[in-house]
Amino acid sequence: EKGGYPHFMLKEINEQPAAIMATVSPRVEDGLPVLRIPELTDEVLRGIGRVHLVGCGTAMHAGMVGKSAIETLARVPAEVDIASEFRYRDPILEKNDLVIIISQSGETSDTLAALKLAKSRGVPVLAIVNVVGSSIARAADYVMYTYAGPEIAVASTKAYMVQMCVLYLFALRLAYARGRLSEAETRRFTAQLLRAPEVIKPRLADCEQIKYLASRYVNTQSCFFIGRGFDYALSLEGSLKLKEISYVHSDAYAAGELKHGTISLITDGVPVIALATQKQVYEKTISNAKETRSRGARVLLFTTKDAVVPEGVADAVIRLDEYEDILMPLQLIVPLQLFAYYMAVLRGCDVDKPRNLAKSVTVE
Ligand code: F6R
Repeated sequence: EKGGYPHFMLKEINEQPAAIMATVSPRVEDGLPVLRIPELTDEVLRGIGRVHLVGCGTAMHAGMVGKSAIETLARVPAEVDIASEFRYRDPILEKNDLVIIISQSGETSDTLAALKLAKSRGVPVLAIVNVVGSSIARAADYVMYTYAGPEIAVASTKAYMVQMCVLYLFALRLAYARGRLSEAETRRFTAQLLRAPEVIKPRLADCEQIKYLASRYVNTQSCFFIGRGFDYALSLEGSLKLKEISYVHSDAYAAGELKHGTISLITDGVPVIALATQKQVYEKTISNAKETRSRGARVLLFTTKDAVVPEGVADAVIRLDEYEDILMPLQLIVPLQLFAYYMAVLRGCDVDKPRNLAKSVTVE
């Protein structure tokens, strides 16, 4: 059942190219993204005032990537909420807003409650769900399924990957419908998204290198992930994966926030995982990484192939292939998943069933 893999998590990480293909290709027509929801016409998309993305845990982290994609590409304001916060904070929802509910299982109780709240306010709800016919899929006005197939490991990997893909497709169609992206640009981004399975395969093949790195960090008590923009969203997800399965305490910070408190925790030997894939803020993140290193941190830097890494910034550098900055999360998440996986394996943890956690959280 594990298809020759020692754990479901590793199997599911390796299923990501197929999951992306299954999720994206049916939604590309003549080189352009299509949502396949008859009611969400381009005219309706042009009328959207604000998008609210809501989910829990990893699904909410996918929402953060979606927010950045929607705002960057379509220039439509987008907000991300944790479902358990959204449902109790009397959110401000307008008639021309769209609520996007994100859930792998489709059964998470806070997420379902957030959906019902939005509906009770008369705001349309689009659900991005993996489990067909689940409660969230049934309660939503519109559904875009992710085709990850069954996800067994408690730690979500391939579902997160395809949640991001659907959000990119949505952002691209929104941007195209609103004239924010030309047809040529829309086609170019869509072609790049279709390439994602090929882009991530070499990252899966890097697993021995990542395992070796994990072996050097295995006795760590606590570590930090830093990044800006998309890299910050990925810091949160990389950090969550690590702590949930390897039980290493880990925190994620927007790199610029370090000096507002956290840097006091950086002492000799503390691992800092610095994510620097975004060209626009590359120098900024590098200088933050340097600040931690000069205070004794062991810096593991994830950046792109062509990036110039100054002397004295990192103890180890992991290179990703050049890719569209906006789509970089699809590539970057793979080594972060593998890092968490090997840390957990090397620490002797129950990778697929971490303590105190359930696959589907159906109680508040
Ligand atoms: C983390 C993880 C959880 C889930 C969260 C939401 O690896 O799996 O954070 O993402 O419980 O679950 P769904 O997506 O089923 O609503």
